[in-house]
Amino acid sequence: MKYIVELDGVNKIYGTNHVVKDLNLKVEEGEFLTLLGSSGCGKTTTLRMIAGFEEPSSGSIRVEEESIEEKEPFERNVNTVFQSYALFPHKTIYDNIAYGLKMKKVPKPEIKQRVTEMMELVQLEGFEKRYPSQLSGGQKQRVAIARALINRPRVLLLDEPLGALDLKLRKQMQLELKRLQKKLNITFIYVTHDQEEALTMSDRIAIMHDGILDQLGTPTEIYEHPKTKFVATFIGETNIFDGAVTAIDGKDISVNVENGTIMGTGENFKKGEYITVSVRPEKMKFSDQPVDGFSISAVVKDYVYVGSVIKCMVSLPNGNELKIERLAGDALPQIGAAIYPYWRKEDAVLIHNRDNLIFEAIENITLG
Ligand SMILES: Nc1ncnc2c1ncn2[C@@H]1O[C@H](COP(=O)(O)OP(=O)(O)O)[C@@H](O)[C@H]1O
Ligand SMILES: [Mg+2]
Repeated sequence: MKYIVELDGVNKIYGTNHVVKDLNLKVEEGEFLTLLGSSGCGKTTTLRMIAGFEEPSSGSIRVEEESIEEKEPFERNVNTVFQSYALFPHKTIYDNIAYGLKMKKVPKPEIKQRVTEMMELVQLEGFEKRYPSQLSGGQKQRVAIARALINRPRVLLLDEPLGALDLKLRKQMQLELKRLQKKLNITFIYVTHDQEEALTMSDRIAIMHDGILDQLGTPTEIYEHPKTKFVATFIGETNIFDGAVTAIDGKDISVNVENGTIMGTGENFKKGEYITVSVRPEKMKFSDQPVDGFSISAVVKDYVYVGSVIKCMVSLPNGNELKIERLAGDALPQIGAAIYPYWRKEDAVLIHNRDNLIFEAIENITLG
């Protein structure tokens, strides 16, 4: 089996609200895949369709090469962990975790053995007789995870499972979940709106924006080669310039932006095309005079010290701010000084403008 979960041209429409748009996604067996995007972009809807709780308006979903609709819920090798834990309040921790096995009429001694194993796995030994109200948020989440894992699913779906925990516990649980996933070799499809969480935990990230899968890739691919302006700004910090291509010389591309000219490298761009240029703060440099190919000037506004790096906030004539990162100990110009930001051409990411592509398509139609 090549892919454990496959979504093929999946759409979900509620009334007039097109929530998931032509989603194609292939999940590899044993991988940790994260659906990442802002609130309302369609993550939960996608997860619910994979779980079989919700039917796609069109398109197909297959789990282990079988269409999910053909299987009864209890036959599916998929389990879900919700943000709200959804524990039974009047059952003990033991009975909460044992529930799925009891429903399947697994013999009692086997239930006992598997529950004990699970409680060890999520480090809840000794909590058997407690009730959910007697546990902390992190412990409740562990019970929810144990309960979902005890059926030995091939795929575990997790919808913002750490969202209700404080930062310190969340960081700790992130590492534990990742460890658990690798140890059990279960495919995780994990939903979060937290980019840092996605970058820390995932083998691959699927970035959703307004119901569309903008980009699918490893954390490094997505950070270094964002394909849309949304992805560039959503993942990590960056400096964004919008402008028109004015000259192309081999791979070198000059772009005219509001405050001057900048450079980057790329292929398949056209003269006159309106594009976005993204430059990460750690790739930005500055000089006290213009550098070949660059003509934007800026004024140093402020310095922020963050551990071993210094963030220089500089402002452009149009009021936009740029972030430039320097190492502590580097010589820095005084606040108020004029500087000329620049970078290695290869360090800029050039991004086609989606709207532009749409206009082009329309133009092609009207021009015949
Ligand atoms: N059962 C439903 N009926 C109508 N609209 C819904 C329903 N479920 C979700 N939506 C809408 O679909 C969009 C995406 O929701 P959701 O998948 O929950 O987003 P996310 O999990 O990314 O925050 C939202 O605009 C939401 O209001
Ligand atoms: Mg959601």
